[in-house]
Amino acid sequence: MRDLHRRIEQRQALIGVVGLGYVGLLLAVEFARAGFWVIGFDVDAARVAALNRGMCHIPDVDGTVLRQLVESGTFRATGNFDRLADVDAVSICVPTPLRKTKDPDISYVVSAAEQIARTLHTGELVVLESTTYPGTTEELLLPMLESGGLRAGSDFCLAFSPERIDPGNMRYGVHNTPKVMGGITPTCLELATALYRTVVETVVPVSSPRSAELVKLLENTFRAVNIGMVNELAQIANILGVDVWEVIEAAATKPFGFLPFYPGPGLGGHCIPIDPHYLAWKLRAMNYRARFIELASEVNGEMPRFVVNQITLALNERGKCVNGAHILVLGVAYKRDVGDVREAPAVDVIELLRERHACVTYADSHVPVLTLADATLYAKPLCDEILDAADCVVILTDHTDVDYEWVACRASLVVDTRNATAKATQIDLGDHVWRLVRPAYRPRPLTCHPGTTPSRPDQPACSSPMQTTPDALRLSQVEAQIQYNEARGL
Ligand SMILES: NC(=O)c1ccc[n+]([C@@H]2O[C@H](COP(=O)([O-])OP(=O)(O)OC[C@H]3O[C@@H](n4cnc5c(N)ncnc54)[C@H](O)[C@@H]3O)[C@@H](O)[C@H]2O)c1
Repeated sequence: MRDLHRRIEQRQALIGVVGLGYVGLLLAVEFARAGFWVIGFDVDAARVAALNRGMCHIPDVDGTVLRQLVESGTFRATGNFDRLADVDAVSICVPTPLRKTKDPDISYVVSAAEQIARTLHTGELVVLESTTYPGTTEELLLPMLESGGLRAGSDFCLAFSPERIDPGNMRYGVHNTPKVMGGITPTCLELATALYRTVVETVVPVSSPRSAELVKLLENTFRAVNIGMVNELAQIANILGVDVWEVIEAAATKPFGFLPFYPGPGLGGHCIPIDPHYLAWKLRAMNYRARFIELASEVNGEMPRFVVNQITLALNERGKCVNGAHILVLGVAYKRDVGDVREAPAVDVIELLRERHACVTYADSHVPVLTLADATLYAKPLCDEILDAADCVVILTDHTDVDYEWVACRASLVVDTRNATAKATQIDLGDHVWRLVRPAYRPRPLTCHPGTTPSRPDQPACSSPMQTTPDALRLSQVEAQIQYNEARGL
């Protein structure tokens, strides 16, 4: 072990990274930039070939840097797992998805561990980074790696360090995001910390891999539960006729004891909708129900249906129905300024709209093609004509390259699930803009005219397509919510 310590300090260690996706490629590039020789392992032959030509599939990885690393031979990708025999340290960054039953699919981790166990040698360091349930490192990986006779802590080292990357985040990257680390033994922790300190400013040691595994699940469950709470708040605000965004912003002025979270069309991405289920699954096996996780999952999972209900009501108020309506979806990626559609709620919203015979098109400069269960959609360029043609424009992802003031003023009806229109404009939005919840009645004259470019506040008020008195609006709102709740069996 002392030898590997020295080789790490002198940048002579050969580092392996198994799984070259969002997490693994970023890590491999950082190790290579820190001066190590790096081999990346992946089962996807096309990905391996592209990487060895210097072609990058992950937006957060600088393509120029990758090409330089490949050209200098500092980084190579391979599908030949025999080469694991050469590495001094290896990080596992393979997917940990859910099965259809919402149980963990740990098969990728098992497969990677089998390959590593086959070639494990004295003095090697193994670090698991994939998000997983507490106990995976000690109960699953450790016996697999020790099956050849080597012992963790004396012959080789094993640790768990959860990945915390946030795709598209310009402020926090690998270097300045502290990394939690739990080793099987103090020696394992020390060696893994020594390696990761070469690429991360702060390593946060915890007492065991199990603690480190739970840290990651706490972080993601924290987000899932809080988002679930504000998604329910949005539904409550809809019943009360209150602007949910105003309420959250006002609450966020409290300088202590409050953290703002925002509602939306549902959870997306590879982490927040999935990881809490790893914890719930583990606890079910131990006869405990993780109630917050289950409730948050239920509320968040309902949001696409809630959004479709709001679209239906908004169209209905204009004397239109979903069947045959032209609906333009703005943004289908799971979050702003990324092209990732894994678990994106847009897929559910679009499929629900198509089931109701709406004609759905979408615009998203980050996602040129969207694959649904029964169709493939291609992104349309966003222009006046496409906004004019839409019976309803639905903002599901608030990418920063869209002029939302123009969208709000040009489109005849907008359902904005991200509050992008209000954030982008100083002028009053008309009643044709639903910011997730139905527009609250406002006695002030409206200055945003559907079908126009933005107008100045001193211009005359426009009337919305169908005039509704405040009382009638409130009444129909309550009735609609009752119907919606009945449909959900509440
Ligand atoms: N993407 C994120 O933002 C993020 C953030 C934090 C944590 N994580 C976690 O990190 C892990 C990896 O996620 P990702 O987003 O990088 O996944 P990904 O799907 O982008 O990449 C995974 C890569 O692993 C490869 N792979 C699959 N099985 C393999 C095997 N047996 N051997 C070698 N390669 C294999 C795939 O071909 C793919 O290239 C997951 O556990 C995820 O939950 C992801």
